[in-house]
Amino acid sequence: MELSLQELKKELAGEIIGHSIHYFQEIGSTNDEACRLGREGAPEGTVVVVNSQSAGKGRLQRSWFSPPGCNIYTSVILRPEFNPADAPQITIMAGLAAAQMIETYCPRKTRIKWPNDILLHGKKVCGILAQMQAGADKIDFVVLGIGINVNIAADEFPPEIKNIATSIAAQTGVFQSRQDLLINLYKNLSKWYKTLTSNGFEIIRQEWLKMASLTGCEIQVKFRDEIIKGKALTIDERGALVMSDSKGKTVKILAGDASIMKEN
Ligand code: BTN
Repeated sequence: MELSLQELKKELAGEIIGHSIHYFQEIGSTNDEACRLGREGAPEGTVVVVNSQSAGKGRLQRSWFSPPGCNIYTSVILRPEFNPADAPQITIMAGLAAAQMIETYCPRKTRIKWPNDILLHGKKVCGILAQMQAGADKIDFVVLGIGINVNIAADEFPPEIKNIATSIAAQTGVFQSRQDLLINLYKNLSKWYKTLTSNGFEIIRQEWLKMASLTGCEIQVKFRDEIIKGKALTIDERGALVMSDSKGKTVKILAGDASIMKEN
């Protein structure tokens, strides 16, 4: 079913996130468009949502498979009055909001893999790409780009991601309304963003840890050419991954790609 801009506007009136909606049938990347709007001064809570992307972007210079008619591709502009060093808290908050929303459609199956991949039975159903424009001590804006595989069939993924990607429908056998999911996503993001800005990060950290997939596992984290191996312990007050490395030393990691070597 097509997304209805009119319905979205009605449902999201008065919410922090989604009070201003830019909808397109197709665009290169919603993150590029949201960054452009951010530089032009678009207010906090402005969202870009599309039916398909011709150049969807993933983390670490990857692409994001974005066919029409089946999934969610959206970017949200936020302007938190944070120190740029605390920006990872925002991506952790977004991962929690998206994971909890997905969990309502896939009870007891949803996990978050640091920093913010959402997994169903170990396969990726949702990815988040955060981009930031900031000065030395003030964030100008953050763009949270969220892609959720909703109704795409397992055999529609390209061969290179077939074994690692999934969708809500592929896992549950039930097609969902993208419209409903999108509204629930924006509402849950509004709720947790309000919590973060009014009450701080700790409650989000605790809730996030309840859904975390890595804690206690032997993992390896890759960033650029470096690989760190060890045991995942927790995330800290900034959202960094805390692990004990192979020599038992505690290390904190702010960015990278984690994979499980041995479950706990
Ligand atoms: C990841 O690699 O896990 C992040 C994927 C993020 C994909 C979304 S889809 C909407 C938004 N626009 C983009 O170009 N990317 C993000």
